[in-house]
Amino acid sequence: MNLQELQKYIKIIDTPLDVNLEIPHLAYIEAKKKEPKILYFKNPTQNGKKFDIPVVMNIFANDEVVRDIFERDLEEIAAEIEELIKMKPPKTLSEKLKAFGKLFAIKNTIPKVIKDAECQYHIYEGEAATLDMLPILKTWELDGGKFITMGQVYTKSLDGNIRNVGMYRLQVYDNKRLGLHWQIHKDSAHLFWEYKKAGKKMPVSIAIGGDPLFTWCATAPMPPRIFEVMLYGFIRRKNSRLVKCVSNDLEVPADADIVIEGWCDPEEMEIEGMFGDHTGYYTLKKPFPVMHVETITTKKEPVYYATVVGKPPLEDKYMGYATERIFLPLLKTTAPDLIDYAMPENGVFHNLILCKIAPRYPGHSLQIMHSLWGVGQMSFVKHAIFVSEDAPPLRDYKKITEYILNHFDPENILISKGIVDELDHSSIKELVGGKLGIDATKEAKGIDIEILEDKELFERIKELDESVEEIKQYMTHTKNPICVIKYKKTKRAREIFDKLKALKKHLRIVVFINTPETFNPYMLIWRVTNNIDALRDIWIEEIIGIDGTNKDKNIDEFDREWPPDVDTTKEVIEKLKNLGLIEGISEEELRKYQVI
Ligand SMILES: Cc1cc2nc3c(=O)[nH]c(=O)nc-3n(C[C@H](O)[C@H](O)[C@H](O)COP(=O)(O)O)c2cc1C
Repeated sequence: MNLQELQKYIKIIDTPLDVNLEIPHLAYIEAKKKEPKILYFKNPTQNGKKFDIPVVMNIFANDEVVRDIFERDLEEIAAEIEELIKMKPPKTLSEKLKAFGKLFAIKNTIPKVIKDAECQYHIYEGEAATLDMLPILKTWELDGGKFITMGQVYTKSLDGNIRNVGMYRLQVYDNKRLGLHWQIHKDSAHLFWEYKKAGKKMPVSIAIGGDPLFTWCATAPMPPRIFEVMLYGFIRRKNSRLVKCVSNDLEVPADADIVIEGWCDPEEMEIEGMFGDHTGYYTLKKPFPVMHVETITTKKEPVYYATVVGKPPLEDKYMGYATERIFLPLLKTTAPDLIDYAMPENGVFHNLILCKIAPRYPGHSLQIMHSLWGVGQMSFVKHAIFVSEDAPPLRDYKKITEYILNHFDPENILISKGIVDELDHSSIKELVGGKLGIDATKEAKGIDIEILEDKELFERIKELDESVEEIKQYMTHTKNPICVIKYKKTKRAREIFDKLKALKKHLRIVVFINTPETFNPYMLIWRVTNNIDALRDIWIEEIIGIDGTNKDKNIDEFDREWPPDVDTTKEVIEKLKNLGLIEGISEEELRKYQVI
């Protein structure tokens, strides 16, 4: 699969645009359209100077593109994996033949290492291997610099037996050095520790572009010690083609557009960030290992691939959906009664998971919750909601929300503690935080509640606390209506919550926010699941309170630094508008997704 084959999805941008904010801002807006396209920027510039290499963004533009990249339906791939996992020893001849066919698919997982590869058409070594030849982007105004955002980072264990690829962003420190943002829980970070213990330099190679399936494989949460590229061969039903790098022993896809080869010294760390991340918040500055660039190789006519992350929806929605589908059978190996799951992109994947199970005994959901929170990258999940097999489809968000609220009983809530994603900004301590599990598999008893109109309820709440600025009720036809309360944060939400108990006849679940949300459920879910640590921010009393506000050092005694929102730069949006490049999306949608 190459760009040529995805031509019908590509929109070419001829207008020269700067790698500093302009290109990524346009891709950001494109990804929020109903039918996003792949964008091909023919003329990337920097301060007026043109690059020779074009930029492609949104390569995983939409579900159709993803289907074409995988060259078959995601469900078909998942079914094949499930069959392999469930395979029993064959008895009859026809069973044996069938089993042989399935095992043949495994043979495809072994990469072929070839000699002459298109990714080594041009070889730049020494002084010539300089990062400024590449149109690397600065995505957001507060970013610490330029970042490579779609790099497949290849590494090997110290003894050479384990190969790994992960997609980690890379900050450009200068023309010869990159920051390696592999988070502490990730496979390359584990391999890095081996080199650190042995006091040896670690080879690193970064492949950019080529068949986009390699890029997706780099994001796939494969168990440690299993080379993600094997998944490429399984999905494609043919062996991947790799080539040995020019200056180190690592192997990278032969068809990559650009390969950056080098090494890192485990003793050398440098501050990385800030970076506008896929949580929609910036990740703050922190030390990460440094890669030294030795060699850059490229195809004859390379293209530079990049992605933009920030507030959802973005391209990672479509990449994440493929991961969700393909990994369902693997997840079932540790949670056999799991029927289906969904990780909505506005829960930024690890902030919210919906699970459909066939409960057979009391505590069944609890059992699966604990198993999820202990398995690989699933252990990052902060909030898990379990529904029964009679629930509507998990991606019918309106119906499933109604179902959950009609099956929500405070007695069936588990609040626990575990590891959280390194990007999580709201946990009380970095890397460890609260976990919320809701067992909504049984119909709730419900309590009588008298719903008031928003206007009247607002006045009653305002009488109790002057700092409340706006309220809106949702799902008032369910057993557990939600009232979202926006207030001017000069005190803890908890203080207002205590006063609200006087209105318990009219309230059930209250959610506090202090940010300029437009009261649309999509962004509210994004904000609130990001901002809460269940151990600190959920109160189950006469009513239920959720503190979805941004936390503050003085008001909340929050010891960590709270990061800023990832927002666009006004002048850049104006410029793109004036160039006539923003089209196919309404002002209302741009406001809804907080682009403007
Ligand atoms: C667009 C995008 C950007 C990502 N950036 C990072 C990153 O900077 N650091 C990181 O540790 N993981 C990042 N990830 C997630 C990893 O790619 C993912 O967890 C992968 O499974 C890691 O591979 P590993 O298990 O081999 O370490 C990113 C994922 C996507 C889709």
